[in-house]
Amino acid sequence: MKIAVMGAMPEEIAPILEKLETYLTIEYAGNKYYEGSYNGIDVVVAYSKIGKVFSTLTATTLIEHFGCEKLLFSGVAGAINSELKVGDLIVATKLSQHDLDITAFGHPYGYVPEGAVYVEANRELIDISKDVAQSLGKKVREGIIATGDQFVANEERKNWIGDTFGADALEMEGGSVAVVCDALNVPFFILRAISDAADMDASFSFDEFLETSAVESAEFVMKMLEVIATK
Ligand code: ADE
Repeated sequence: MKIAVMGAMPEEIAPILEKLETYLTIEYAGNKYYEGSYNGIDVVVAYSKIGKVFSTLTATTLIEHFGCEKLLFSGVAGAINSELKVGDLIVATKLSQHDLDITAFGHPYGYVPEGAVYVEANRELIDISKDVAQSLGKKVREGIIATGDQFVANEERKNWIGDTFGADALEMEGGSVAVVCDALNVPFFILRAISDAADMDASFSFDEFLETSAVESAEFVMKMLEVIATK
């Protein structure tokens, strides 16, 4: 079993690479991929760069070129749900693309023909995350994550995304990774730790909490790998 562990930014995968004893660095398609093992499981770690296009390329490469059979994503997100505070963890039950808009043709936001507004994450992996949360005494909220090629720092836009998609958090890669994994039949899991509230202070909050929140998320994903290794 080979598992992809993916982030979007260097800060999101640095705590993951720290936990691997040794790894091989492979350059491919304008990116670096780190092959190693963790608790006896083969892993390929990569950060995609920000946004839907780069994350699509990286997720596809991890699956099609490196042969990964599951994908775990770790990173940070902006909170929509006011119960989510900086450092809190959210697991995506399903994901949508908030900036996909052909409503001019009568379609709902986030939908294109032969696609779907939402892509569901793998239930087995979500259940493992619940067990891990319990064993660590941590709270992990299940919720809907909306993805778009926009850093949202605007209350009005954030509320629109929340109202339109029922989303609890937003970020810039999960929805595209979900589309790739769903199309290629690879079970996937998207975890995010909150770095900001997607409001007018979001860029400051993001800069302040990116590293600590990325560590929260990464450490949790590594615990999940430990459980997956025993199955
Ligand atoms: N990732 C973390 N915070 C974000 C925000 N406010 N907008 C988009 N992506 C994010």
